[in-house]
Amino acid sequence: MKLWGGRFQKETDKQVDDFNSSIRFDARMYREDITGSMAHAKMLGKQNIIDPQEAELIVKTLGEILEDIEAGKVEFLVDAEDIHMNVEKLLTDRIGLSGKRLHTGRSRNDQVALDIRMYLMAQEKEITSCLSALLEVLTSLARKHIHVIMPGYTHLQKAQPITFAHHLMAYAQMFMRDMDRIADCYHRTSVMPLGSGALAGTTYPLDREYVKELLGFEKITDNSLDGVSDRDFALELAADLSILMVHLSRFSEELILWSSHEFSFVEMDDAYSTGSSIMPQKKNPDVAELIRGKSGRVFGDLMGLLTVMKGLPLAYNKDMQEDKEQIFDAVDTVLLCLPVFTNMLSTMKIREDVMYRGAGGGFTNATDAADYLVKKGLPFREAHEILGKLVFYSIEKGCALSDLSLEEYKQVSPVFEEDIYSAISLETCVNERSLPGGPCEKAVLKTIEKCEEFIKNFSI
Ligand code: ARG
Repeated sequence: MKLWGGRFQKETDKQVDDFNSSIRFDARMYREDITGSMAHAKMLGKQNIIDPQEAELIVKTLGEILEDIEAGKVEFLVDAEDIHMNVEKLLTDRIGLSGKRLHTGRSRNDQVALDIRMYLMAQEKEITSCLSALLEVLTSLARKHIHVIMPGYTHLQKAQPITFAHHLMAYAQMFMRDMDRIADCYHRTSVMPLGSGALAGTTYPLDREYVKELLGFEKITDNSLDGVSDRDFALELAADLSILMVHLSRFSEELILWSSHEFSFVEMDDAYSTGSSIMPQKKNPDVAELIRGKSGRVFGDLMGLLTVMKGLPLAYNKDMQEDKEQIFDAVDTVLLCLPVFTNMLSTMKIREDVMYRGAGGGFTNATDAADYLVKKGLPFREAHEILGKLVFYSIEKGCALSDLSLEEYKQVSPVFEEDIYSAISLETCVNERSLPGGPCEKAVLKTIEKCEEFIKNFSI
């Protein structure tokens, strides 16, 4: 018979049992469910709501059940519906009446809210520690390649020279923001809902603060209806993870471009590439492509979660069981992508010479040549026009700005002098951009140090 079978005259249809059951995907919350129940039982005993000795027996037996589950000795039952009732059934099978007292002053509605919050809190910590490992790789690569000049792009057209370190540290900013967002979300996840009951709280003198302390939550929920209805923390996490996947996907896209024959800025390690079944020469950046592709799953999870929640009246509705597979998938996907991305990055070969050569083509120093004229007193708009003419002339001639003779420069503007050549060298272009946040060595070093501090001080 079902734990709630008293009111029923008939068994549930087998098809409905299968349909209703969530054990297939919520079994992964067994540890949170058991830990939550242990805290609830301890509190019931402390408050003399149940006999303190029975409370102790419940806690002890739950501990044994946890060990058995971890040792693979327990098989969950589909017709016990979900992880909450499976654990309760295991408990009552072992200690009978005492086990049946555990659910006093509690509903599965506040229980599932508790479990999922606890589960996500652990995952949030895990994700930020993976992000931290990724940032470590980024900062150490940036330190190593602080002088490596490469072309920067806008519209994927060569724009101005920057350094590889500067480019890497741009991504570091994104991942630091991701960590901040997830830490922020953690504080809204870390709110203890037990005591909300089914929706209207309970008449038993529960000590909610005590349970909060036992389970390491920061606060208790302030409204019993909201306590069982709220899934904002899951929506928020899915949104944060979607943004994180946007970052991984954009980075992957660049790595895919950069490892093409046309760019050849980087070469993936053999261990992080795959071959073709027909073309013997191929070395494909599958890992980066898959990460770019997997971003779609996480965005889908976010859309799915928003859609499940948007029309629900307060408080709990069974629709909310659909939250789990989606938020779990988002978390699993991110936890799958982050470590492999980090290792791919730390093992890839960086072709400094190709990057440098790339920085030289495409008139990436034209802005600096115009700035040169401005420093000599010309208005920027005029300087822009003069450089436009020189670029056009060079394209016709098939050469770079630095290949023009001083006579050629002077033909367009008499202001040019011999020092134009050093003013438009790639090194000058990068080094002169020395404002905070710029690509020159000193400025980039500062951001690297800031990022290293961030990693060191980060905690949830
Ligand atoms: N398996 C359910 C879920 O995941 C647990 C809560 C069930 N509560 C209820 N009143 N049916 O949402």
